[in-house]
Amino acid sequence: MNHSHIPDIPKAFPQLEAKCKEIGFTMPSDIYIGTLLKSLIASKPHSNILELGTGIGLSLAWMIDGLDEQSKLISIDNDPELIGIAKDFFGNDPRVQLVCTDGSNWIKSYHGPPFDLIFADAWPGKYSELNETLKLLKVGGFYVIDDINEQPNWPDGHAEKAEKLVEYLKSREDFTMTKMDWSTGVVICTRRI
Ligand SMILES: C[S@@+](CC[C@H](N)C(=O)[O-])C[C@H]1O[C@@H](n2cnc3c(N)ncnc32)[C@H](O)[C@@H]1O
Repeated sequence: MNHSHIPDIPKAFPQLEAKCKEIGFTMPSDIYIGTLLKSLIASKPHSNILELGTGIGLSLAWMIDGLDEQSKLISIDNDPELIGIAKDFFGNDPRVQLVCTDGSNWIKSYHGPPFDLIFADAWPGKYSELNETLKLLKVGGFYVIDDINEQPNWPDGHAEKAEKLVEYLKSREDFTMTKMDWSTGVVICTRRI
């Protein structure tokens, strides 16, 4: 199998990659986590999806391609330039809500319906407000994180934080967990109760 042969790339993908280079955005999600998110979201018709860390919108492009017509997706980033770019590409999609705000505050003040899938790709929801974020999942819902394998740009001490995060998730009896040594290191937890 050639896992890098990926035929169903989102329409906006080449333009988003160009935008990424243009503004010097160095943290985009890779294509592999994109394909996984699309597949997981496609398994949840009529779903409610959350992304923490919109970034340039690369993961978002894949996630949107997984949505059916009845599904909704909220994506949060605290950087107005990035949310502006995501709005240029996806702002006309009535299923998608792009919110420029601090993720920590947003997580703590969210009182809407629970989510079928949360992709936590910012500090909040991953290294802070983790329990609050896990509480926002439906039973059967997926919590997805990447960047778990050590990256060359990590500051001192971050590898230990990532390890602790994985250990903590493993200790949660209310979630099943799959660790994947693939892409940038991916963990999927599924809420059981
Ligand atoms: C790893 S990047 C996300 C990449 C994105 N998934 C993509 O494909 O382009 C992390 C993002 O989290 C955002 N971020 C950092 N701190 C945040 C906070 N406190 N609240 C909301 N977003 C935050 C950054 O602006 C950055 O865009």
